[in-house]
Amino acid sequence: MRYLLILALLLFLAACTATSSSSIQYSDIPETGDAVHGEELFNSSVNLAPPCIGCHIPANTASPSLDGFGTTAGSRVEGQSAREYAFYSIVEPDRHIVEGFGNAMYNQYDEKLTAQDIADLIAYVLSR
Ligand code: HEC
Repeated sequence: MRYLLILALLLFLAACTATSSSSIQYSDIPETGDAVHGEELFNSSVNLAPPCIGCHIPANTASPSLDGFGTTAGSRVEGQSAREYAFYSIVEPDRHIVEGFGNAMYNQYDEKLTAQDIADLIAYVLSR
């Protein structure tokens, strides 16, 4: 009986750790994104989340400039496409920290944005 309880506990813990820290998976993201809507989202607050532009403005040297991101994104993390890297940058920003910057990005966009919103934001940041 005791062993069964321990086994149940272990299975429970395994199930917990297997769950990704993000509630939206890369495979949930629609293939096409609307960069124009993405730009609107970038400049506004959605569901009380801080707007991207609040940090990503040239005057703020604590956040990386996203100018030219479309050309750098694909070589940031080995094995990650530009689109995949853009996805993780938005929903799990602490997964890869851009060199020279701190782990300061808001990290709950996966709770605040829809999968389509994220596709639109990806299309926008990759167009820069
Ligand atoms: C509270 C400030 C803050 C907000 C708000 C914020 N970011 Fe960031 N962002 C950062 C910082 C700091 C980094 C660098 C550290 C890191 O890699 O997480 C970063 C990194 C990134 C990167 C990776 C850039 C690169 O050159 O590799 C992308 C892409 C990005 N953010 C997009 C966004 C988008 C899109 C939003 C809005 C949905 C957003 N950020 C909101 C601060 C912020």
